[in-house]
Amino acid sequence: MTPRDRLIFALDVDTADQAENLVRLLAPEVGVFKVGLELFVSAGPEVVGRVRRAGAKAIFLDLKLHDIPATMRAAARAAAGLGVELITCHADQAGIFEDMDLHGASLLGVTVLTSLGADELKAMGYPPELQDPQALVLRRASLALAAGCSGVVCSGREAAAVRNLLGTEALIICPGIRPASGEVHDQKRVMTPQRALAAGASHIVVGRPIRTAPDPVAAAQAMVQGIAQGLAERSPA
Ligand code: C5P
Repeated sequence: MTPRDRLIFALDVDTADQAENLVRLLAPEVGVFKVGLELFVSAGPEVVGRVRRAGAKAIFLDLKLHDIPATMRAAARAAAGLGVELITCHADQAGIFEDMDLHGASLLGVTVLTSLGADELKAMGYPPELQDPQALVLRRASLALAAGCSGVVCSGREAAAVRNLLGTEALIICPGIRPASGEVHDQKRVMTPQRALAAGASHIVVGRPIRTAPDPVAAAQAMVQGIAQGLAERSPA
């Protein structure tokens, strides 16, 4: 895997045309394009094929499925049938898919959204021992592991502890990535690309810091450089 293969760009736009333009612009710099709820709901499932034809080598369909088992299984079958490399569900529900053929797609368990911090977990009613995001992330990562997920989504701040728990092979995908001096937006648990990779992330997800940059190509290249630096810190040559 090259540093570029580890950069996932979030196509958080609401038309297939905008998504295609971004894929054409960024395909040389980005390993994986993420189709999330906004684009999927606005543009429909056929957007996946359009993103592929515009040049995406790999597609992450991030629907964060969460429902009763029968609905989850039917939705996951349909999602995997679109021909994507990665799909997500909430980690506590990953067991529902244990025996399913997802057409070769890797299943990732979303642990705790990177927009949530201790205050939100407390307000949501979690007991004191699970109000620390890392404790809840680890609890859910072990559920995902037991359910046979290929990996999890968590913030860079938990990447080291999750790597320790899941071992060397697991995918650890970290959103909430910001350049050292960048704007944080609605994210709470943020980290730079370099630090996330050094801590054990296998991939980073980046949306606004690339999409709203004056020069998105240069911003993506800077992310890839950060990834390479983080990898070098992890295993010095
Ligand atoms: O714009 P920004 O870089 O904050 O985008 C982050 C992307 O990562 C969004 O598409 C969001 O849905 C996704 N994500 C996240 N936290 C998670 C899982 C996915 O922010 N736990």
